[in-house]
Order: sequence, then structure tokens, then C-alpha cells
Amino acid sequence: MASSLTTAGTQPSAPSFSGLRRTCPKLDAAVSFSHRVNSSVRLVSSSHRSPRGVVAMAGSGKFFVGGNWKCNGTKDTITKLVSDLNTATLESDVDVVVSPPFVYIDQVKSSLTDRIEISGQNSWVGKGGAFTGEISVEQLKDIGCKWVILGHSERRHVIGEKDEFIGKKAAYALSEGLGVIACIGEKLEEREAGKTFDVCFDQLKAFADAVPSWDKVVVAYEPVWAIGTGKVASPQQAQEVHVAVRDWLKKNVSEEVASKTRIIYGGSVNGGNCAELAKEEDIDGFLVGGASLKGPEFATIVNSVTSKKVAA
Ligand code: PGA
Repeated sequence: MASSLTTAGTQPSAPSFSGLRRTCPKLDAAVSFSHRVNSSVRLVSSSHRSPRGVVAMAGSGKFFVGGNWKCNGTKDTITKLVSDLNTATLESDVDVVVSPPFVYIDQVKSSLTDRIEISGQNSWVGKGGAFTGEISVEQLKDIGCKWVILGHSERRHVIGEKDEFIGKKAAYALSEGLGVIACIGEKLEEREAGKTFDVCFDQLKAFADAVPSWDKVVVAYEPVWAIGTGKVASPQQAQEVHVAVRDWLKKNVSEEVASKTRIIYGGSVNGGNCAELAKEEDIDGFLVGGASLKGPEFATIVNSVTSKKVAA
């Protein structure tokens, strides 16, 4: 069972969130307070939102779940995974995307149900050409991808990609019509130093400075300390950053973008913890690594959208 990291430097003395919409009387008092932890962050007021059937949702975008298979799989294991995904029952009101290793995308595209879209795990910053080892956006489109994951922490911190470079990649992918899963997230030492928001906002700004439109961008908040470690962020820790990201978008891009942009959480999400996370108002879905390699468990995570649905 995944444990929760509780020593985070940015954990505020904030009220705990019940997972119900913040307009319920008990939580109304909490709506206007300011999180002041290193950065000034104010909750996005939900008072102007239109009434909806799905109440535990601050944004207006559809729930989104991505499976990042990373550098895992063989022809055989991927055949089994695709077969499990094809037979899984998936809630209809969720965008579902999987991201196989490049070399298996064609195999997955030709065998996976159209219900699930396909993403690349990375793409080159511009048009293809003499760039040994890279994969171009044009090639991803040619092979049937609709999305690309950019700025994943393993690209940032293992490969060394920088904010500005990642922003340019996002702009290019969007200009060619791909959707972008734009990853942000702090390292453990940054969280412990109280820099969570600063790091996330810098990474977000690099995307914002480069992209012409947010229509096809999904932001994935993935704290580095939670990725592949079994240490999932608590629902409150994730919610706190998601609120801050939405508020940053509202102040620095627009209210409309803040509402429409899906902010998904990634980092040790599994079939056991997804429902509690999904109840948080500003968690609009997940980016899943390890648990996306198991079809039935991935389906459970997709279907955690049901825990957002509370009688209006
Ligand atoms: P994890 O990976 O679910 O294995 O922690 C998430 C990710 O890196 O996207």
C-alpha cells in the first residue's frame, strides 16, 4: 500500500477538503482564505460556476486519464495489455489516453480500441530532419498519435531538458495539432525547502510563454518524489497544488483557461488510492505510470471518475 508523504514543506495549516464542492456551507468559509506558503496563492472562487451534475469538480473540463507506459513492455506483454484494455468497461465521460514506447505505437494503434487515444512520450522541438534518435511530431501524427507527453520529470531530471526547451516543444506540437500533456512538479528537496509553488509556477510559465493556445493542453502535476516511489501525494497535498495551478492560470492566462484546462495528478496513483484523489475538486484526472501497465487496474483508475459524482 502506498504511503503518503507528510513532511512536505508547503503543507499549509489549511482546512481539510471533504471532496465536495466548496459551495457547501461548511466549506464556504474556507473559500476565501489565502494559502500563504512561500508564494501567495488564492483559491479560485467557485461562486460563478454554473450548476452541474458532477459536483466535485472545480474545472469545466472532462476527466482525463493517461497511462504512461514509459520504457516498459515487449510485443507479448503489450499484446496482453491491449487485450485487457479492449475488454475493460470504461466510464464514458472520461478521455482515456495511453502512451506506449515509440517502437510499439504502431502495434498498439492497430490493435487497441478507438475508445482510447494514443500519445507519444516525447517529441522533437521542431520539424524532423538530421536529429539522430529523435521522433518528430509529424511522425507521431503519421502513426496515429493525438497527444504527446512533454516535460516529464524523467526528461527534465534524467535527460536534462530545460523549461524553455520544453515550452518550445509544446508550442511546436500544438502548432501541428497534437494535444500536449504538460508535466510540472517539484523535487523532494524543493518541497522541503518550501519551493513547491515557485518551481511549479516557473515550469508553468515556460509553457505559458510559448504556447499560443491552451485548448489542447492538459497540465499534469507530478511531484517528483511521488513518481514511481509508492509515496503518493495525499489528496490534500495534490489539491493544494492543483488549486494553486488553476489560480496561476486564472491570473496569468485567463479565467476561461483556468476553468477549462484539465489539471491531472501523477505519482504513484493506483487502483487503491485513485478514488480518494479523484474526489478532490481540482483533480481532473490522472497520469499513471506503473499501474497503467495492468489493464484492469488502469480501468479502475479511469472509472474513479464515479467518485466525483455526488448528487447535486
Ligand atoms: P508512477 O508514474 O505512476 O509510476 O508513479 C507516473 C508518471 O511518471 O507519469
